Amino acid sequence: MITDNYTCIHSHILWGVDDGPSSIDESLKMLGIAHHEGVRTMIVTPHNGAENGYAPSAGRVRANFSELQGQAKIEFPDMRLCLGSELYCAPGKVLERVERGQAFPLAGSKYLLLEFLEWGGKYETAEYITRAMVDIARAKWFPILAHAQRYRAFEGKQALYRAMVGGGVYLQINAYDLADHPDGWVKENTRWIAGNMLAHFIGTDAHRVSHRQPVMRSGVEYLYAHCDEEYVDALVYGNAEKLITGEQVPLSAGS
Ligand SMILES: [Fe+2]
Repeated sequence: MITDNYTCIHSHILWGVDDGPSSIDESLKMLGIAHHEGVRTMIVTPHNGAENGYAPSAGRVRANFSELQGQAKIEFPDMRLCLGSELYCAPGKVLERVERGQAFPLAGSKYLLLEFLEWGGKYETAEYITRAMVDIARAKWFPILAHAQRYRAFEGKQALYRAMVGGGVYLQINAYDLADHPDGWVKENTRWIAGNMLAHFIGTDAHRVSHRQPVMRSGVEYLYAHCDEEYVDALVYGNAEKLITGEQVPLSAGS
């Protein structure tokens, strides 16, 4: 069982580049909360995609990240920060943005964190999302679907999660949706994905001190109480460690 060494691969703790914190002080407060929650590695993933309203300059993101990393080394010396992006999955554009250096893979790896419209756009059906993600896996990147539990388009179509994983796609879930999210369907869907061992990574998807704090512990407690221990060890730590060190994470097609 992993305790107090969790890895969050999805967070908006970098100030001034998306709808996350507005100052470095707020970023550091969020890091303090994450540390208290047992997180020791955070991948910082600002939104990136002009189509959904975010196009931060790569230079600004890098500069703010270095400043935060420098300050975090002083205040939280055992906290490791890595850089990435949460990419809006605009077909035909998203890979070019990464390849041009306008957006970042996770921790310099081949893994990409990709999102669609939060509740599913009218044209972003479950079939569309599945196809777009599998296409990226065919392009020799390792695509990770951000907050996989949240897309309403998958209601009644959960078999497509399994199809995606079978097609080379990884799934990330948000810790707070396992235990704390007030929406019944989202919570049940998150638990279904984890219960079927289809999630490979976990994150806080933290945005601000006042909105969606970087909470992890209640979700991890739920997982250890209800899922296979070895699977949870990999979900909260081991798989992300492989990602950061450039190893390929095994794709399970679930139980
Ligand atoms: Fe996010």
